[in-house]
Amino acid sequence: SDNLSGYANIRLHMNRRTFLASVSAVSLLPVRGFAAQNALHLKAQQVTRQILPQGEGATAMLGFNGSMPGPELRLRRDARIAIDVHNALDEGTAVHWHGIRLENMMDGVPMLTQELIEPGDTMTYSFVPPDAGTYWYHSHYISYEQVARGMMGPLIVEDDVPPDVDHDITVLLSDWQLDETGQLLDAFADMHSVAHGGYMGNFARAFLSQERVSTGDRIRLRLINAATNRIFPVAVSGVSGAVVALDGMALSAPRALGDLELAPAQRADLIVDVKGPVGFDMVTRQGAYRLAELIVDGSNTTRHATSIKSLAPPDLPTPDKPAQHLTLTMMGGAMGGRHQGDNIWSFNNTSDLQADPFGSFRRGETARITLVNDTAFPHGIHLHGHHFYETDKDGTLGDLRDTTLVHAGESRDIICVFDNPGRWLLHCHMLSHAVGGMRTWVNVA
Ligand code: C2O
Ligand code: CU
Repeated sequence: SDNLSGYANIRLHMNRRTFLASVSAVSLLPVRGFAAQNALHLKAQQVTRQILPQGEGATAMLGFNGSMPGPELRLRRDARIAIDVHNALDEGTAVHWHGIRLENMMDGVPMLTQELIEPGDTMTYSFVPPDAGTYWYHSHYISYEQVARGMMGPLIVEDDVPPDVDHDITVLLSDWQLDETGQLLDAFADMHSVAHGGYMGNFARAFLSQERVSTGDRIRLRLINAATNRIFPVAVSGVSGAVVALDGMALSAPRALGDLELAPAQRADLIVDVKGPVGFDMVTRQGAYRLAELIVDGSNTTRHATSIKSLAPPDLPTPDKPAQHLTLTMMGGAMGGRHQGDNIWSFNNTSDLQADPFGSFRRGETARITLVNDTAFPHGIHLHGHHFYETDKDGTLGDLRDTTLVHAGESRDIICVFDNPGRWLLHCHMLSHAVGGMRTWVNVA
């Protein structure tokens, strides 16, 4: 029953809050994008945000530039960007640009790629994003807590030629443990949840970058799971259309839109036609939990139906025959998980970052890694600095991802071309599991 407690709590809130006040729970991201430019500024600071419906308590959180989620950053593909991060918090921080294949020194991982940005200090991150798509940025320091407190935001790399849509809407999902007055409970490092499914909110919602559309509009939806531990099963109602990208990477052909399952940090891009009011629901055993909705205002009569086309394919190296085959076994945790060592979680009986990397790769080398989940919980495994191919049971290359979800008792092979030199984290993106020991690193030289 332990890992269901999050859902049970949500049901209590659902009756009182969500079903009664779901419309007012929808609101705008306060800052809609910077126009693409060469320099951006982020200020990490305390913010107050209305997470619960209007009229209920506002939540003291952390965020960027006065907002939570942080402002949507829009970058140009193949153009260098400089992002100043000023730390106005009373603790250190660092920012990771999740999913961007960037230079190692700009990856935002304290102790591995940079020093902490201390309170009052500023660090300039500078990189060239090579792939158009939907990404996000988040704190990578005590991230199980700083991200849960709100230190994250959408990061969009614009398409050279945008798809033919009427609106481009970001849908950022998260959840929080709130008390009755809307304040965050200090439960981020609760050992019981670390050993189970991780810190889970008792309240969940999505933030939309726009709140109105018209019937007949064709819209792009960029879903981002920014929750620290919750897998969101998402159903989008009131639309018909297709999935066109996962984790920022265009699919070679649009895929029929069914229910989506997004692990923490995963993204999905949809192109859909609006048929009626659009709802975003988390599908739970107790029924649908409304995360957000788009209000339909009038109808678009100028657009005529055409088929949904795929986005421009990303330019990644083609895998060779794997030169190495490694196995990464997820171990530990509650409910029968076993491993040696004092930490709660491990990979291959080893917890946290050791002096030796899990893998060493020659630059450009292709490797196969078998991810084995020998625990009682699902894990979303994230590799920094690269995308990799999931493989199907018969070994054929599947989707390109930066985070792959492996359910309890299952395993999956991934194929990666390690072409980005440096020291890269490989960890569970259930951030409670990462702090509980489920993290390692690889070296590419
Ligand atoms: Cu989204 Cu190690 O990070
Ligand atoms: Cu995990």
